[in-house]
Amino acid sequence: MMAWLSGLWRGRPAAVEPASLRDAARLAQLHGASFHRGWGEREFETMLTERNTLIHRLKLGQKIIGFAASRMAADEAEILSIAIDAGHRGRGLSRDLLLTHLGHLAGRGIRAIFLEVEENNGPARKLYERTGFTIVGRRERYYQQPGGEQLNALLMRRDLS
Ligand SMILES: CC(C)(COP(=O)(O)OP(=O)(O)OC[C@H]1O[C@@H](n2cnc3c(N)ncnc32)[C@H](O)[C@@H]1OP(=O)(O)O)[C@@H](O)C(=O)NCCC(=O)NCCS
Repeated sequence: MMAWLSGLWRGRPAAVEPASLRDAARLAQLHGASFHRGWGEREFETMLTERNTLIHRLKLGQKIIGFAASRMAADEAEILSIAIDAGHRGRGLSRDLLLTHLGHLAGRGIRAIFLEVEENNGPARKLYERTGFTIVGRRERYYQQPGGEQLNALLMRRDLS
């Protein structure tokens, strides 16, 4: 049954849409499954009501399978987080999500986007490189893992015109 259903959706485009308050629980679930320090439903609710925060959801059929969140300040923005449900990774879905998100940021007058990515996060680095970001800095031992390991962060930037 599940195989039939996923076959039904294969090939159908996923939709990138502005997230709403009603998505907070699902966004928190996706975030918690993707990062060590998950953001709670309340944190998403707060972000979804802030005027300087932009969150897009990625929907496949009725299901939210990813999101991208940014915070804006003047004509710059920072990508706060992006994640795709583990069962849907590796299909290039994050590229559409991020490019659409960037397009909306450009529409709000954003000229430069920054983000931090863990140096060994291969899929994320590939995603950012493929969507026009370049490395502009490196922060040693920036991330603390639950086991105590410290990982480096790369600071990336993309200009929007
Ligand atoms: C990062 C993330 C959003 C990418 O989503 P995705 O839809 O799976 O991305 P894609 O399918 O477009 O894959 C991205 C690229 O990484 C590549 N890739 C996949 N696994 C990889 C790995 N282990 N090492 C290096 N590259 C890898 C893919 O081949 C693809 O490259 P391509 O453009 O040359 O084909 C997703 O992996 C995710 O949610 N990760 C957990 C949360 C996270 O780390 N977010 C980023 C925080 S900065």
